Amino acid sequence: MKKTAGFALTGSHCTFKKALAALEKLAESYDIFPIVSPAALTDTRFFKSEELVARLEGISGRKPISSIRDAEPIGPGKLLDILIICPCTGNTLAKLAHGITDTAVTMAFKAHLRNDRPVLLGISTNDGLGASAQNIGRLLNTKNVFFVPFCQDDPENKRFSLVSDLSLLTEAADCALRKTQLQPVIRSK
Ligand SMILES: Cc1cc2nc3c(=O)[nH]c(=O)nc-3n(C[C@H](O)[C@H](O)[C@H](O)COP(=O)(O)O)c2cc1C
Repeated sequence: MKKTAGFALTGSHCTFKKALAALEKLAESYDIFPIVSPAALTDTRFFKSEELVARLEGISGRKPISSIRDAEPIGPGKLLDILIICPCTGNTLAKLAHGITDTAVTMAFKAHLRNDRPVLLGISTNDGLGASAQNIGRLLNTKNVFFVPFCQDDPENKRFSLVSDLSLLTEAADCALRKTQLQPVIRSK
């Protein structure tokens, strides 16, 4: 039987295309439960909410979990073997690092961690080496939290930006399931 993976998207809309491609590959070996933050469901020039929901349903066969209420049973029901948050914004990183639970995604994190099971973060934030750096540091040092290896995607023009390499998502998930961090965490572009 396939392992179950929560796949939670937060509001890095420019990353959705790559994240969905990585999710399609992941779905070959994991049973997927999609989860979305309210910001992820906002229409932008990159993605319309309807299109995102349709793609997630198409890949997983499930409606995305989009409320705190619907994410809460992940804990008591031990629904997921692994929770993947991808893309993970600077905003969500800050909340995860400080125990703030006010979206379906942060609720899923809290509910899932209580089961002593792994979480994998695929980060995408323009302030990864700025305001988010302390939160990334804190989460690197948090039990059961792992990262999809990341790099500075555009050091010339976006000096503080960090982005996970989503071609490594499935490999990083397989490692995280074994409670191991895929190495090296920091990659070159
Ligand atoms: C078009 C668009 C693209 C965005 N891209 C990013 C991004 O790549 N990384 C990021 O940290 N925030 C990005 N944001 C800002 C987040 O959507 C915003 O901080 C939001 O509050 C995140 O909420 P969430 O973390 O609950 O999804 C973007 C916003 C918009 C409108």
